[in-house]
Amino acid sequence: MNPMTKDTNPTDSCITREQMIRLLNEDLAGEYQAIISYIVYSQVLKGAAYTDIARELEAHAGEELAHAIKIAKQIDYLGGMPSVQAKPVKTSNDPIEMLRADLENERETVARYRERIQQAEAMGEFALSETLRAIIVQEQEHEIDLSSALNITVPLPKEPVAKKAISTT
Ligand SMILES: [Fe+2]
Ligand SMILES: [Fe+2]
Repeated sequence: MNPMTKDTNPTDSCITREQMIRLLNEDLAGEYQAIISYIVYSQVLKGAAYTDIARELEAHAGEELAHAIKIAKQIDYLGGMPSVQAKPVKTSNDPIEMLRADLENERETVARYRERIQQAEAMGEFALSETLRAIIVQEQEHEIDLSSALNITVPLPKEPVAKKAISTT
């Protein structure tokens, strides 16, 4: 069997420290993206209809900064070097498009952290898992804020499929 199989299967919960550092650096790049987009969108969203959400986006920017610091701290703790690259930020003059871009990113972020928490648990990195759990609570709130601004119902997350504990054969 190919010993690199684990490397190519991101859904596998058992990952190495190096893989965790790489994945956390991708998460960090996503946090940088979120900081930038919330700073910009909160200032350019104009009109009475967007006053409340613009204020919320400004608050999100601060929370994303706190997430970036926490993720960078965990990368450093694991012996890695925190990335300095942000994922690309979409620009638009259309307020709905801006909010949709943020919502898409939040959904992706929640999915990424759900996976990362399971991987951290599998590694026995419980402090990392606790840090990620605190972050995912806020990411879900961001998702809800954006969804309600766009009048979209947030679908409930799917329960992880229970693994069969006992083989029946
Ligand atoms: Fe975040
Ligand atoms: Fe967020």
